[in-house]
Amino acid sequence: MEIPDNLTMKPEIRSYPTLLDLSKAAAEFIVELAETAVEDRTIFTLALSGGSTPRLLYEYLAKEEFARRMPWEHTHVFWGDERCVSPDHPDSNFALAFESLISKAPVPSENVHRVPTEGELPKTAAREYERSLREFFQDAARDRMPMAFPAFDLILLGLGKDGHTASLFPGEPVLEEKTRWVVAVAGTSASPAVPRVTLTFPVINQARCVLFLASGSDKRDVFQEILNSPESAAQQYPAARVRPSGSLLWFIDEGLV
Ligand code: 6PG
Repeated sequence: MEIPDNLTMKPEIRSYPTLLDLSKAAAEFIVELAETAVEDRTIFTLALSGGSTPRLLYEYLAKEEFARRMPWEHTHVFWGDERCVSPDHPDSNFALAFESLISKAPVPSENVHRVPTEGELPKTAAREYERSLREFFQDAARDRMPMAFPAFDLILLGLGKDGHTASLFPGEPVLEEKTRWVVAVAGTSASPAVPRVTLTFPVINQARCVLFLASGSDKRDVFQEILNSPESAAQQYPAARVRPSGSLLWFIDEGLV
């Protein structure tokens, strides 16, 4: 298994007393990153994570104190992974973000690039999503040179108790994907155990910034292993193989210390 050679790069860890504190700090971090990205490159490309941890962050971003500072008209929202359920299903990562953030903040609908899961086979949804990403990033690059992988300004990720992240689960062949931007996975070991669509490591590791949000003592052992023994952890935990060319940050709460 090939592991990125920049394993020695130390991630930046920021620890907060509670998930609420972590989420507010993450909202501030994202707004500042977005302002800089728009200043430098006129757009901010953000891939959201799913699961339960980011809900409070999304609710903060929808609050007036952050919504009025966030350059939504220049922000393009994507997903790092998605469950293959309808977009209004309670298990949908899009539904989570729509209900807690997108329906409340002034995000132009044309700036929301969700995974087209309704009525599609997982493989078709993955192919369609990759096509939409290629179209967007190729246009945004404004040059005709076909790009190997897109550089998202920020990819949000969560951590599973088994060390998965996005829908990159331990032992899955997708962990070795080298060329595709998006793949479909069976998700049989996931909760909920439904097929999913996920960004691949080459895309995640091309990001200018990756921010993990992790909360809860049930993730402490995995997190500590990833932090203290990155090389051995990378054999076992997909999250340990996230080594972006840009910056890598972990916002954690006291449960992981
Ligand atoms: C998903 C997520 C997944 C999540 C982790 C942590 O679609 O399930 O992308 O990778 O981030 O499983 O989930 P919690 O935040 O619920 O602990």
